[in-house]
Amino acid sequence: MRVLVVGGGGREHAICRALQTGSVRPELVIAPGNAGTARLGRNVAVNLQEPAQLVAVARQEHAELVIVGPEQPLVLGLVDRLEAAGIRACGPKMAAAKIEGSKAHLRELAASANVPGPAFAILTEVHQVARAVGRFAAPPVVKADGLAAGKGVFLPATHEECIAQAEALLAGSLGDAGRTVVLEERLTGVEASAFFVCDGDVCVRWPSARDHKRLRDGDQGPNTGGMGAVSPNPALDDDTLREIEAQVVRPTLAALARRGTPYSGFLFAGLMLCERRPMLLEFNARLGDPETQAILPRLPAGAFLELADACSRHSLRPAAVAEDPRVTCAVVLAAAGYPERSRLGDPVDIEPGLESADRWLDYSGIKAKNGRLVTSGGRVATVVARADSSTAAGGLAYRGVAMVRFAGAQHRRDIGGR
Ligand code: AMP
Ligand code: GLY
Repeated sequence: MRVLVVGGGGREHAICRALQTGSVRPELVIAPGNAGTARLGRNVAVNLQEPAQLVAVARQEHAELVIVGPEQPLVLGLVDRLEAAGIRACGPKMAAAKIEGSKAHLRELAASANVPGPAFAILTEVHQVARAVGRFAAPPVVKADGLAAGKGVFLPATHEECIAQAEALLAGSLGDAGRTVVLEERLTGVEASAFFVCDGDVCVRWPSARDHKRLRDGDQGPNTGGMGAVSPNPALDDDTLREIEAQVVRPTLAALARRGTPYSGFLFAGLMLCERRPMLLEFNARLGDPETQAILPRLPAGAFLELADACSRHSLRPAAVAEDPRVTCAVVLAAAGYPERSRLGDPVDIEPGLESADRWLDYSGIKAKNGRLVTSGGRVATVVARADSSTAAGGLAYRGVAMVRFAGAQHRRDIGGR
């Protein structure tokens, strides 16, 4: 079997590993991949913003199944085009992926399905801003409607700053992504994520994970794409996960199906638990990075390929996904200057003793240049360790972190509650 994996980060390296744990070992092509995926398959250079290029690669490579990691190709309609070309894909079509591609669309959809979430307002004109902001008792969260690579959410401290931020977005500070603005009631509570795989009809819950989004220890410093993750999420019990599924995920999926745009693919719900009640913050039409690096090693051997394949055939079985009782801890190593201005091109040294049955390195921004490894992205790599307890997994992971060296490396020291 030939599988094309779309994407080039740590998530996609983890996906490639998970695809090769079972008795069926598919041949892997990765577009564009990185120096880590190159050891598990063949990388093909592509522009992820060009779905037509990706379809051409899938055709040339005779891919039987395409697994899409990042959001841009999904929002640009890659899965629609693959299906039109007769190629099976695991991922939502453009209309369903809009739940990540447009925050205004998501809020409107979720409200129509009575999904619990913050009060909100949708704005397209500068003259609406002051009055709309003034209707919120506390300063609201200001969000660009479209994809903004994690830079489109603002949490201003005063109403005046909210107004200035919303006006700047509408005036084009983030380009077209901010031509529509969403204001949201600012919720307080415990943040949590939950993951599912859906085939347009059946929806199955995945192991949980906890992300650590701030750059520095103790949840300080700027927001990032994610500095580490643990699975399972110690703050999410089974009852809460069932509640998230019943009150947030299933009503949204049902509303999408009623509108003729059923959701198929991985689904990642971002929530705020307010007095334990889950409130929807966002949906992502994909798996998370670095959550994937922590979750996939807890699936049974071969399960990831089976699930992705069943998803693409719309033949998922409504049976719970088995979970390894062991705990994983995934620690991200980021480049100097991340997240504002990452420095690239630093040589990377990895001690050969790092990798064992229960510890490995998922590459993100690492490429080979003149016969050696150098940094090529803001997030450079994720050390993943698996053990019987979170303390043991954290200890094993951090001993691995010390074996990866590059100038200016940044990492958090408290992933997994250490
Ligand atoms: P999002 O990309 O929509 O998840 O937003 C990024 C981050 O902003 C979230 O992980 C939260 O920490 C925060 N956030 C987003 N929306 C809200 C909200 N309505 N209330 C409080 N915090 C929020
Ligand atoms: N780690 C958060 C994300 O993938 O969006």
